[in-house]
Amino acid sequence: MKILVTGGMGYIGSHTCVELLNDGYEIVVIDDFSNSKPEVEDKIKTITGKDFKFYEGDIKNRKLLNKIFEENKIDAVMHFAGYKAVGESVKKPLMYYDNNLNTTLTLLDVMKEHGCNKFIFSSSATVYGKPHTLPILEDFPLSTTNPYGTTKLMIEMILKDLFIADNDLNITILRYFNPIGAHESGLIGENPNDIPNNLMPYIVKVATGEYECLSVFGNDYDTHDGTGVRDYIHVVDLAKGHIKALENMNGLKYYNLGTGNGFSVLDLVNTFEKVNNVKVNYKIAPRREGDIDACYADASLAKKELGWETTKTIEDMCKDAYNFVIKNK
Ligand code: WQD
Repeated sequence: MKILVTGGMGYIGSHTCVELLNDGYEIVVIDDFSNSKPEVEDKIKTITGKDFKFYEGDIKNRKLLNKIFEENKIDAVMHFAGYKAVGESVKKPLMYYDNNLNTTLTLLDVMKEHGCNKFIFSSSATVYGKPHTLPILEDFPLSTTNPYGTTKLMIEMILKDLFIADNDLNITILRYFNPIGAHESGLIGENPNDIPNNLMPYIVKVATGEYECLSVFGNDYDTHDGTGVRDYIHVVDLAKGHIKALENMNGLKYYNLGTGNGFSVLDLVNTFEKVNNVKVNYKIAPRREGDIDACYADASLAKKELGWETTKTIEDMCKDAYNFVIKNK
């Protein structure tokens, strides 16, 4: 099978490319490097010893997409490409709606023209908004509180309507919880171009001395230690979930990809310090607008229907995240 991976040079996309190649799939990658780096291509090839075709460009470029589908018989598409910074989306909603929606609409239209009917979409637990109870199940109510999350929800709704119109389609929507960590080789990992919005990349930059101190956004949440609780999942476990999804496509399906365990900000800081034998300076700061107290998955549906479950621990995530940055300093 030949898989088109959009955003395949990005954090989650690149780790999924590695797992696809390791499992014998042929891949074709398109990326515009808006949130990734060209050297990732060679790193994927080094890790796997496999070659693949790469096209640089914007998925809104219909001419380029048609060229890709004319030059390659694409059996399925994994769609990772999209802007994903919550804070930035609040400041620049039009940029997010234009990019995330129009890339997807163009991609789906070109897929239809070329008879490609297998689509795996990178969604996010953010579509659940503030859950009424925990753990979160796939049939929980959906709501969003920022343009980034709303683009994910809108695309899920578009995909549902697409399936209603043509139920020969196979569409799998994967709702990620909080991906962290890196491939054990230390060759690929999370390497944001600008100041990290997310917790783990910020912790790493404090541990390496690039930043002075971590601000812990609030310690008065309704959690065991007052700091925000999230379901951190190793990016390699997440990538493997995509392979299982590809192998079990069956109409329109939704799956949580999380560990089912919640860890607080201070749990993560303390674990990171312990496994890496480093100090992470932090201070308690005011809550961040839009954050919720706690969020973690019920991942039993993915286990039951995809035969997938996570294997890596929070310690593995902290060790691999740090190893990547040290190896690439
Ligand atoms: C985690 C916890 C913060 C930074 C977002 C998106 C989600 C996905 C993952 C894209 C929270 C706290 C954070 C810091 C802190 N993104 N924190 N200091 O907000 O759960 O999810 O990123 O797919 O869609 O919504 O992740 O890493 O930003 O925050 O205290 O400097 O860490 O308050 O409790 P979040 P996060």
